[in-house]
Amino acid sequence: LVLVVDFGGQYNQLIARRVREANVYCEVVPYTYSIEQIKAKNPKGIIFTGGPSSVYGEGAPRVDKEIFSLGVPVLGICYGAQLMAHTLGGKVAKAEKREYGKTRIEYKDSVLFEGMDKSNLCWMSHTDYIETAPEGFEAVASTEDCPIAAMQNTAKNLYAVQFHPEVEHTVDGYMIIRNFLHAVCKLEGTWTMGSFIDEKVKEIKDKVGDKKVLCALSGGVDSSVAAVLVHRAIGDNLTCVFVDHGLLRKDEGDHVEAIFREEFHMNLIRVNVQERFLSKLKGVTEPESKRKIIGEEFIRVFEEESNKLGKMDFLVQGTIYPDVIESGSGDSGASVIKSHHNVGGIPEDIEFEIVEPLRELFKDEVRRLGLELGISEELIFRHPFPGPGLGIRVIGEVTQEKCDILREADAIYMQELKSAGLYKEIWQAFAVLPDVMTVGVMGDERTYAHLVGIRAVASSDGMTSDWYKIPYEVLERISTRIVNEVDHVNRVVYDITSKPPGTIEWE
Ligand code: XMP
Repeated sequence: LVLVVDFGGQYNQLIARRVREANVYCEVVPYTYSIEQIKAKNPKGIIFTGGPSSVYGEGAPRVDKEIFSLGVPVLGICYGAQLMAHTLGGKVAKAEKREYGKTRIEYKDSVLFEGMDKSNLCWMSHTDYIETAPEGFEAVASTEDCPIAAMQNTAKNLYAVQFHPEVEHTVDGYMIIRNFLHAVCKLEGTWTMGSFIDEKVKEIKDKVGDKKVLCALSGGVDSSVAAVLVHRAIGDNLTCVFVDHGLLRKDEGDHVEAIFREEFHMNLIRVNVQERFLSKLKGVTEPESKRKIIGEEFIRVFEEESNKLGKMDFLVQGTIYPDVIESGSGDSGASVIKSHHNVGGIPEDIEFEIVEPLRELFKDEVRRLGLELGISEELIFRHPFPGPGLGIRVIGEVTQEKCDILREADAIYMQELKSAGLYKEIWQAFAVLPDVMTVGVMGDERTYAHLVGIRAVASSDGMTSDWYKIPYEVLERISTRIVNEVDHVNRVVYDITSKPPGTIEWE
């Protein structure tokens, strides 16, 4: 076990991720953890994260000096490096100018930099710097503005770097963390996603005991992986509620039911409220009103189901690390739902304790975990799908007929992307049904039918995106098939707008 002691740095989970990538188990703990608590964990290595404070600042985070004499190797990063220097009698000073961004660095001989080019690029983000290293330390890297960009005391296994080895801009930075773990801490790196499952299962069992747990399952990647993991820990004490609002993709509701009920043998309640949602949406055309109605109705249905089940103690949330807004709260302990949490439409006034087993993971790690848990690739690599579903992809008023047309067109589009090998390369692709009818000719007959829009975007987070360039031949096949196979459609258009200025969805 490696402890990552968090001083409020923005990259705390990125450090944890690098440790996991080196196949070493780690836990992120707040700097307020006492020396007794740290000793009780019996760590084989300790990493201090960066943080926004200055070691001289009032109320600046500190550590008990004893931590440096436990015989456990310590790697300090940025603020963590300065704190090590300051605590052990070195001198930390304020630089005249902030050093920020990619910076040229010269590495000297050190076990940390084994296998790396000596003259290299690193990522700096600091104002304070180590002016004098504590006794027993030697400087092992420097930049133009920073004479002690790294220091070490090999006798005591204490290491510190001013820059951020965890970010990608530090060339081969991951090797520094690896060298620390493997060569200094002597950790072999045998930890895997399989071990993550074992640890989480134990943690969930310890926390939940034999109490009842509820999960709102959407069939999306995060909630599915969270549910299967919790189910592995507590079995039938988990009940999943799947609200089928009728705004899902083709056969999606049946798939979700088949996967979770038949494959994973989970307690799944599918609430079929398709008509209820459609009648609420009747006559409504404004996108935000549609969202509001769907969101509120979802909460109402969920509440009703939850009430029927009697007292439930915990609620599973598929929160993943990028959703975690607060920093400095590395402890994955339970907290009571707050309104700003990523609750995906769960009532704010029901007081569940929450279980968030994916809180530390990045999206690609969640996917790996899901595959490890035996969830199919098809579900794991599914494109993101908005909560209001087809409700915002049928432009204007939502009707059963329009949803059906759109489902058929979208299914053909996805099939063709998959058979062209493009699906996984695309961040998100879908068909939309604008509220537009156009004239066409089929055989000898004039037609007057719906227009279908197809959209595909490349993105890494959905915040910005480029329109994806689907090859013409594939577009041609998609268009031909949709017009030939979907009744009431006679024209297909391709959306070539990036975000910004467009959004990914049309509404
Ligand atoms: P936009 O359209 O804002 O979409 O560029 C960015 C990402 O968010 C998804 N999206 C939503 N997800 N509820 C959701 O849960 C919504 O109301 C909603 N609107 C957009 C969209 O699919 C894309 O992945």
